[in-house]
Amino acid sequence: MLSAAPQLTSALDGFRLTLHVLAATVWVGGQVTMLGLVGPSRALGEAAPRTLARAFNRLAWPAYGLLFLTGIWNIQAVGKGGTTWSMVLGIKLAFFLLAGLGAYLHTKATSKAQLAIWGSVGGVASVIALALGVFLNG
Ligand code: HEM
Repeated sequence: MLSAAPQLTSALDGFRLTLHVLAATVWVGGQVTMLGLVGPSRALGEAAPRTLARAFNRLAWPAYGLLFLTGIWNIQAVGKGGTTWSMVLGIKLAFFLLAGLGAYLHTKATSKAQLAIWGSVGGVASVIALALGVFLNG
């Protein structure tokens, strides 16, 4: 099957998508990194996981806000897609909200079970939102 030669994206679109993807790397990649660091950090002392988590929160929430702002910019830039595209965008927004809710409740958890449940909800919802974003950029 013949396909068109790949084209470079414009400078403004490149800037917009770089900001959106950079924020996604901090929000999603940071959670994956925390998953790997929290256990071993206990060797540094009782308070180490909490200190790490607080430091990550200071980066993660601005990234979440930037995802929303650049997401709105994305919608405005790409225009209205077809029915399936709009449906995938709607599902992505639902997972975006669930990701934020899970991450927020994770910070408010009062037991190990709550920490695990809300951390997983936030993490899985974030990865699903990321995958749906890749499909939107068709
Ligand atoms: C957890 C939050 C989010 C993650 C991890 C995420 C991730 C991504 C990724 C990886 C892409 C593909 C970029 C590319 O292929 O170059 C993308 C595209 C997109 N995202 Fe997000 N996103 C998030 C939140 C949002 C929100 C809140 C909105 C809307 C308000 C949004 C709207 C879009 C749109 C419209 C595209 C397609 C952009 C285009 O085709 O130029 N995203 N997203």
